[in-house]
Amino acid sequence: MDVPWTIREATSRDVAAAAALERRCFSDPWSEASIRETFAGPGMLNLVAVRGDMLEGYVIAHAIAGEAEILNLAVAPEVRGRRLGGRLLDAMLQHLRQAAVRQVFLEVRESNAAATGLYLSRGFEQVGRRARYYRRPEEDAIVLRLGLERPA
Ligand SMILES: CC(C)(COP(=O)(O)OP(=O)(O)OC[C@H]1O[C@@H](n2cnc3c(N)ncnc32)[C@H](O)[C@@H]1OP(=O)(O)O)[C@@H](O)C(=O)NCCC(=O)NCCS
Repeated sequence: MDVPWTIREATSRDVAAAAALERRCFSDPWSEASIRETFAGPGMLNLVAVRGDMLEGYVIAHAIAGEAEILNLAVAPEVRGRRLGGRLLDAMLQHLRQAAVRQVFLEVRESNAAATGLYLSRGFEQVGRRARYYRRPEEDAIVLRLGLERPA
């Protein structure tokens, strides 16, 4: 399978491209200012997937005291279905293991079959539901959890 992306930690120089991708991927996108904050904040772990000078995916997580939350994951529409989302998620889970994280949580729109399929394929399990959590359009969130083993 063709895997032409380099996955690396995000820097402040990636903020504008990540915000542009965010706007293409979500109906209620984070602002560029929010992305800048998450790229710089304490406890944040951010990875981007680049091909040449194109940023085509990113994943954002926050870790504290052995727990982490995956806050955002996105892949450019034209390269979906080529396993980049899976590679980004796997790379993030590896970073979280190295950071001594023992469990990971995330929320996903109930109707988001692609993201839910990806998370379930990595062993996430449903542990809750938040009614009307999302807006534009309003929708419930499914809460997923994954326990992480210690790094080998
Ligand atoms: C979710 C997203 C990141 C997946 O990225 P991707 O690169 O297309 O995913 P992959 O090709 O790595 O797929 C990995 C697995 O996800 C699942 N999956 C992917 N697309 C799917 C779909 N349309 N329906 C059901 N399952 C799907 C499959 O289990 C797949 O495994 P397989 O390749 O062995 O079949 C991408 O669809 C996206 O950016 N969506 C918009 C943003 C978003 O919803 N982010 C999640 C917020 S919680």
